[in-house]
Amino acid sequence: MSDPVVLTDCCLAPTVSASSASYAQKETLAFEGGVIVFVGEEASLPRDYAQAPRRSVEGRVVTPGLIDCHTHLVYAGSRAREFEMRLTGASYEEIMRAGGGIFSTVEATRAAGEDELLESALSRLDRLMAGGVTTVEVKSGYGLDIETELRMLRVARALEVHRKVTVRTTFLGAHAFPKDMTADDYLTHICLPALDQAANEGLVDAVDGFCETVGFSRKQIGRVFDRAKALDLPVKLHAEQMSDQKGAMLAANHRALSADHLEYLCADGVAAMAEAGTVAVLLPGAFYALGETQLPPIQTLRDAGVPMALATDCNPGSSPTTSLLLIMNMGAVLFGLTPQECLKGVTVNAARALGLKDRGTFEVGMRADIAIWDVTDPAELTYRMGDAPLKQRVFGGELC
Ligand code: NIG
Ligand code: FE
Repeated sequence: MSDPVVLTDCCLAPTVSASSASYAQKETLAFEGGVIVFVGEEASLPRDYAQAPRRSVEGRVVTPGLIDCHTHLVYAGSRAREFEMRLTGASYEEIMRAGGGIFSTVEATRAAGEDELLESALSRLDRLMAGGVTTVEVKSGYGLDIETELRMLRVARALEVHRKVTVRTTFLGAHAFPKDMTADDYLTHICLPALDQAANEGLVDAVDGFCETVGFSRKQIGRVFDRAKALDLPVKLHAEQMSDQKGAMLAANHRALSADHLEYLCADGVAAMAEAGTVAVLLPGAFYALGETQLPPIQTLRDAGVPMALATDCNPGSSPTTSLLLIMNMGAVLFGLTPQECLKGVTVNAARALGLKDRGTFEVGMRADIAIWDVTDPAELTYRMGDAPLKQRVFGGELC
């Protein structure tokens, strides 16, 4: 058990509890044994901690460690050439239909060894962590064969051996299907067996899919979700990114943890998500990089009380970024979220999108994953375009 640490003079951001709306100045936060043991005014600090070493953070903003709940962090290659093609008018779907897009990353990832994948993923992870991230979700989906899908998940698991971070893995075999197969044959012969094997090896925390005209139909995603259910794994879905496939509704019907992207989400989809408690994971990086104009229905989501999370969607095609802070800024500027919604989007709601109940707020008993920032107003995290300075990260009670 680690010794207690007491942080005084904290400016606590409004994710102190899941429902709190305003932030508090000059608060005291204590943690011990990797969990939060006290939050409140110093005068109410339990006597047990009276002798514990105190550290003043001198009015700095203190937030829960940030949670990036949607990434494709493990991959090889670059898609800079495709970026140039898009700038001169080619669409994401056209490039993919011509065999590029996800397929070009699949080719590079299949050719890369475990060490190479690990090294490049660690370098991206280091940049995420430098922006206050303490938990990251990582998807497979650039293998589309059993061996590479499993290799990606093994690399994702290895990340937390090398760094002080929590990794949650998501099986995304239903990301695309090889050109020489039908989608259903791919699901039968590769994707579902890969899922069985990966789950068997303990490599999977959740199951995802890409429900889109250039991906899988609702019926096909239903097959993946049924297998996930048989394996007792929660599901999520890339839904309504480029067209309204009613994917979010399907996800909500399967009690999905989240439905992600959602630019083309319709009102029925919002209602289904609200009813199921499915988190809306918004990915403004992909919206921005693909030059989209269709906005996700933020006000309808808000009115329906659907929790909204924000994530980098870090991937070489639609969102080549490792700055969750920049995504917060984009969430505000492009999607109209308030700075407070942005902060909840990368803490409490992001935790929920991963099914994690032990983090994302500063309630007593939560993991002591903490970010101390060199700013004195929580809105600075969103206002600055991706460069709010991190003073210190605390991971599971360990200052690092
Ligand atoms: O979340 N939309 C599908 N999947 C990724 C992009 C993957 C890629 O282009 O490599 C996304 O945007
Ligand atoms: Fe994605």
